[in-house]
Amino acid sequence: MRVLITRVIPESGFQLLEAAGCTITRYAERRELSQQELINACKQQDALLSVGPNKIDDHFLWESRHLKGIALMSAGYDNVDVAAATRHRIPVSNTPGVLSGATSDVAFLLMLAVSRNAFYMHKSIERGEWGFYDPTANLGMEVTGRTLGIFGLGKIGMELALKCKAAYQMNILYHNRHRQPEAEKILNARYVSFDELLQQSDILSVHASLSPETKGLFNKHAFAKMKPSAIFINTARGSMHNEADLLGALRNKVIRGAGLDVTDPEPMDRHHPLLNLPNVCVLPHIGSATVETRSKMAVMAAENILALLRNEPMPQIINPEVYHPAKNKS
Ligand code: DGY
Repeated sequence: MRVLITRVIPESGFQLLEAAGCTITRYAERRELSQQELINACKQQDALLSVGPNKIDDHFLWESRHLKGIALMSAGYDNVDVAAATRHRIPVSNTPGVLSGATSDVAFLLMLAVSRNAFYMHKSIERGEWGFYDPTANLGMEVTGRTLGIFGLGKIGMELALKCKAAYQMNILYHNRHRQPEAEKILNARYVSFDELLQQSDILSVHASLSPETKGLFNKHAFAKMKPSAIFINTARGSMHNEADLLGALRNKVIRGAGLDVTDPEPMDRHHPLLNLPNVCVLPHIGSATVETRSKMAVMAAENILALLRNEPMPQIINPEVYHPAKNKS
């Protein structure tokens, strides 16, 4: 089995593939491959381990229809045309679950950082503004007993809610495509409409997947429904919020603050005005970036590739319909 890996990944994943006898091509250049480069690179391969935002659309999938499978090293798969993959009979897998702890930690970190204007305060030292002690200055907001609204109560949202409940006795609201009765019991959480989530949350944290329904959902109309004291957190995908509308809402104090681990586009321009607002904390998409989590993601992606080697279904398959025997490969 010849496997192309689009980045250098943690050794744990690499070694699994090597030990199983795979011939690995690792793309080590520190830049995004163009789609044509990726198509060319896949020509001599049997499987692709895709890391990063490579666009896996109908064109790519048609050109690469000889692939036995594609393993993403990410939980999100908004860069993949799943229906086209199924049409071309290419199984695609992701790495769900293993990054929930690390990503919810970043949401938690951003919640606290924004509530205390931490990044701006740090920069104020660098600006030489740490002057005399003023008991009325630099005041933040405490989060104890506040209402946390989760948009998308999956594994990451659940982990964040558990942490916020344990640490700060927060009340939990959520909005989802489907109700989660089990989670409601564990968290004592209340299912609310999208508008109620906007209106009632003190901290609103986004954990849904990016889809045509969620793209741009957090826009000026949504921010206008939120409390002026509310904090908006997004650790999911940047294009779920409208960045110009968010900037306007923060400048005009429509909401109190925002914490972003994801931006639109990525990377964010280093001169972006959001970076200079006192009530904003931005991180460069580091939700899953811990030694432990990245290693688990690499192993999970490698295990999905190894299933192809054994002619078995990929354990974390995104398009299980692909295994339906009635369909023919295009
Ligand atoms: C994911 O796995 O989807 C994270 O956003 C890292 O890309």
